[in-house]
Amino acid sequence: MPLVSMRQLLDEAARGGYGVGAFNVNNMEQIQAIMEAARETKSPVIVQASRGARSYSQDRFLYHLMLAATELYPEIPTVLHLDHGNSVDTCKSAIAMGFTSVMMDGSLMPDGKTPSTFEYNVSATREVVELAHAKGVTVEGEIGCLGGIEDGHGAGLDGLSHLTDPDQAVEFVKQTGLDALAIAIGTSHGAYKFTKKPTGETLKMGRLIEIHKKLPGTHLVMHGSSSVPKELQDIINQYGGKLKPTWGVPVEEIQLGIKNGVRKINVDTDNRLAITGAIRKVFFEKPEEFDPRSYMKPAREAMKKVVALRMTQFGQAGHISDYSPIPLEEMARRYQGNGNPAAA
Ligand code: G3H
Ligand code: 13P
Ligand code: ZN
Repeated sequence: MPLVSMRQLLDEAARGGYGVGAFNVNNMEQIQAIMEAARETKSPVIVQASRGARSYSQDRFLYHLMLAATELYPEIPTVLHLDHGNSVDTCKSAIAMGFTSVMMDGSLMPDGKTPSTFEYNVSATREVVELAHAKGVTVEGEIGCLGGIEDGHGAGLDGLSHLTDPDQAVEFVKQTGLDALAIAIGTSHGAYKFTKKPTGETLKMGRLIEIHKKLPGTHLVMHGSSSVPKELQDIINQYGGKLKPTWGVPVEEIQLGIKNGVRKINVDTDNRLAITGAIRKVFFEKPEEFDPRSYMKPAREAMKKVVALRMTQFGQAGHISDYSPIPLEEMARRYQGNGNPAAA
């Protein structure tokens, strides 16, 4: 089947009360790992590419790899999503290429660092909603800023400096008409999220529940949601790595989020850790190896294991054939009709 809209996947997830992981990719092996995990667990899939991934892969390569994925895994509803679009133009170019979903991250200015104003965020997001919905493409927006600056996304603050204000979130959804809302509740991108296991003081699940109560019909998105498992940190360090002790977002907190409106969960770092650990292990144990396949294969397998586990933990496993995909043209007609494709 062709690439499908993210809105439909999230609407179905809301109906079924589960969450869908959104996994970042930069290359063929990462795409293969996700698709294999999806086939094994019978999961619908969101594959996402950041601006960095698009430039690393000259995005046309990535796009055609995704087309190959839809040919080789025709039974899997698959979304191609732009992660952290920094401007209207970035979103436009992704839509022109064939992405079926885009994030307009107007919580930051186009430099990806400076927190923006509410007015700027509304205006950029609204513009993307108009041009995306005309093509049946889904839009994710963000209100509040994540912590950290690793990966070039984030204001370089701790995760608590720009938490999402629930009333502002309501106004933002009303004024933009977006499909999914990313919120800031204390998480940050990358491996160094928390210096100890997070508590309600550092990971504000209460804030998320408050937002969900005010916006019960809005699909919420948790960014910076890698769990940074100790086992994966240990493999890296055992084979010569130098990660400092760190904590991520516990899976049970994500599961609490899923009970409270979270439908999309962004995970990149856990897969990076899995890949790096597997490659380090081969380099350490077999220093004579020089065929890249000898370390890329275990790396791909290690990522597949993490993705399959998350798919099961988030509840998307088993939901592969609950529904038939709505073509983007039909989604566009539905947006035009009453603005709500789910109610068409
Ligand atoms: O949001 C951050 C993701 O982990 C993507 O990171 O910009 O380094 O590709 P990246
Ligand atoms: P992690 O760094 O926690 O994997 O977050 C990824 C993310 O939010 C991508 O947008
Ligand atoms: Zn993110």
